[in-house]
Amino acid sequence: MPVLFRNEFWSQLPRVNEALVRRTAERLLVLTGMPDAELSLLLADDKQIAELNSSWRRKNGPTNVLAFSLTEGPDSAMALNMLGDIVISVEIAAREAEKAGLSLHSHLQELLVHGFLHLIGYDHEKSGSEAVRMHNKERELLQELTKKRREKMIKLAVNVDHVATLREARGTSEPDPVLAAGICELAGAEGIVVHLREDRRHIQDRDVRLLRQTVKTKLNLEMGATEEIIKFALDIQPDMVTLVPEKRKELTTEGGLNVAGQKKKLKMVIDRMNDAGIPVSLFVDPDSRQIGAAKDAGATFVEIHTGRYSDAAGEEERDQEFELIASAAEEAYEAGLRVNAGHGLNYFNTGRIAALDTIEELSIGHAIMARAIMVGLDQAVREMLGLMI
Ligand code: PXP
Repeated sequence: MPVLFRNEFWSQLPRVNEALVRRTAERLLVLTGMPDAELSLLLADDKQIAELNSSWRRKNGPTNVLAFSLTEGPDSAMALNMLGDIVISVEIAAREAEKAGLSLHSHLQELLVHGFLHLIGYDHEKSGSEAVRMHNKERELLQELTKKRREKMIKLAVNVDHVATLREARGTSEPDPVLAAGICELAGAEGIVVHLREDRRHIQDRDVRLLRQTVKTKLNLEMGATEEIIKFALDIQPDMVTLVPEKRKELTTEGGLNVAGQKKKLKMVIDRMNDAGIPVSLFVDPDSRQIGAAKDAGATFVEIHTGRYSDAAGEEERDQEFELIASAAEEAYEAGLRVNAGHGLNYFNTGRIAALDTIEELSIGHAIMARAIMVGLDQAVREMLGLMI
């Protein structure tokens, strides 16, 4: 864990998004080519920073940011990869942000960059030219940090499996997932997803064949990597496939693929699909090992499993799961993979995931279909799209 983060700013107001601050610090390490270095970051109040200012710098009163570098002098800790400590007073940051008309988080970001540059040897107090050098580097890093990665709006791909589930419950021909897919597209969905399971419990071969002809946006075939379904996919030629683990007894896909444990096998499947012009997405847990393996296996996309985030029992757990997703998406994006996400997303938890600018598309099924029963499919899709802006 390269950023040792402590928040000792106990007041409830203003509220600090700790995850965002910590992620900024982690990105600074990456942007300056030191992903394995460590730094400690402390969010403090005026009193605490004034005490540190007095005991370490012999200066009176609080200040906005302090940096204690360990990279210089005889005690250099570079061998240990520890850059040093940054302390930020949230109280001063909040006052300065208000005065400058900035959000607290953008100002915290500025202070963090400033403190970070001090840690790695920049010092604007040394000379005029050093002040210019530091200012320029600050601007460069801030620009990188605030650069939006996704230029287009996030897309919604609707999974219509549950329409087929209802049909199969009666063994009749209604409701038809093919018709449902058309309604989703008319309402603004930019992709249709179906999972053709080995046991054909909901979607049938006929559905996929018809969808191949009728879907105007993009047909994403979710599937287990079994020979029968691989052959079917190669025959149908969907716009992309998403490989998922499949167990007969599960109600829905339970976890991400263990890509790291079957890289060779998955690479062979990916190669076969790519040879037929079909890009492959691997459904993975938000886990660095799996992202790296997906890249090695030659996947074009990863779909990050949002199930644990969606099922989290409380806010704290949800925040932790969100962090895992955000950093996995970041890592995948930086590695050159295209990033989708999905599973368990609903009308309450989707906005936060949709705001991650590393993610291109969300795959959502159950929540939309459940709402569609009450308000109609067209409205259910439009309401979800409204939350993804
Ligand atoms: N992504 C994948 C890989 C899935 O297996 C599923 C479930 O079929 C979804 C997304 C959609 O999940 P949900 O129905 O919970 O929205």
